[in-house]
Amino acid sequence: MANKKVRVALIGSGSIATHRHAPEYAAHPDVEIVAFVDRYPERAEKLAAKYGGKALSKYEDALALDIDAVSVCVPNAFHAPITIAALNAGKHTLCEKPMATSDEEARAMIAASEKAGKFLMIGHNQRLMPLHVKAKQLLEDGVIGKVITFRTSFSHPGPETWSIEGSTGWFFDRKQAFVGSMGDLGVHKADLLRFLLGEEIVEAAAMVGHLYKPMGDVDDNAVCILRTASGGFGTLTSSWTHNPGEDNTTTLYGSKGILRLGSNPDYSVVVELATGEKQYYKVGKMQTNESGGQSDSGVINAFINSIQTSTPPTISGEEGRRALAVILACLKSNDTKAFATVEI
Ligand SMILES: NC(=O)c1ccc[n+]([C@@H]2O[C@H](COP(=O)([O-])OP(=O)(O)OC[C@H]3O[C@@H](n4cnc5c(N)ncnc54)[C@H](O)[C@@H]3O)[C@@H](O)[C@H]2O)c1
Repeated sequence: MANKKVRVALIGSGSIATHRHAPEYAAHPDVEIVAFVDRYPERAEKLAAKYGGKALSKYEDALALDIDAVSVCVPNAFHAPITIAALNAGKHTLCEKPMATSDEEARAMIAASEKAGKFLMIGHNQRLMPLHVKAKQLLEDGVIGKVITFRTSFSHPGPETWSIEGSTGWFFDRKQAFVGSMGDLGVHKADLLRFLLGEEIVEAAAMVGHLYKPMGDVDDNAVCILRTASGGFGTLTSSWTHNPGEDNTTTLYGSKGILRLGSNPDYSVVVELATGEKQYYKVGKMQTNESGGQSDSGVINAFINSIQTSTPPTISGEEGRRALAVILACLKSNDTKAFATVEI
């Protein structure tokens, strides 16, 4: 017997909805897109014309429809209020990253999910990328031994060529974005580090600043030092002034060797053992905004699978909260010019 269709609405019809959520829902055989929402109706209309469903300008109208789930694809400051409203309305919710603008908001979102008995998943797609899945397996197999230090970077020229709002949009407006490169990019790597290392980041020292972009009032660069629960440390950098191109790489330095992720153009995973042996793995290209983000992120499939199988999402609200907590500690360290504890 065919599965009952999961009926979804997309709230926010900008770039992430256009390039990932809408095509991935549309490609899923068990999903029906019921509505697109955007504060600019023509953006919702454009996606509805392509994929079907209603075009709405208020998210409340979507929540009143007979739907099972929503994607929250709006600027960061609206994640918490819209997610909480959706959960209170009894809809499973996939919310984009960064999950929220504070730990209090993140906890309120998790509480709403628990109260409603509906799933909350956060769009941390980096840990679903094939190279990172492969890396996790190599780390669990102990191939490079214990990770002692690490460095990770997510840097590109900025979101102005990606966002539907261009260089005058919400990404550069603190009231809507809350943070700049750290919310756009840094939080992805905070989640990835937690996933790969299998332990918490407990302390941060960071410089986070608006160094160069002519527009906006949010950080365009951050350099952070992070300490893990087991005492190791490493760096995380995010940048919107890496021009041209992108640095979306991670290197883990272990007791038995080095694991390089995303830095070799031909082999996305490279192991260099202390013995001199090298291992090369071709495990799919890194999904980038530059490549149009058209390859499948795995996020929508995972969300729909959770709903269909009544299995809580792996990338849960709590996982999103802990990645956000690393970013919040970095901001606090920058403000106080001191080490900051991560609220876990
Ligand atoms: N997972 C990823 O890799 C990834 C990549 C890019 C963006 N994102 C996240 O996705 C979210 C959206 O980013 P984007 O790139 O699509 O931005 P965007 O500027 O392209 O689009 C945002 C859209 O939201 C609409 N909007 C704003 N407030 C609204 C409201 N209250 N109700 C309905 N619509 C509203 C805007 O009009 C705009 O069309 C952000 O939180 C961002 O961090 C995630």
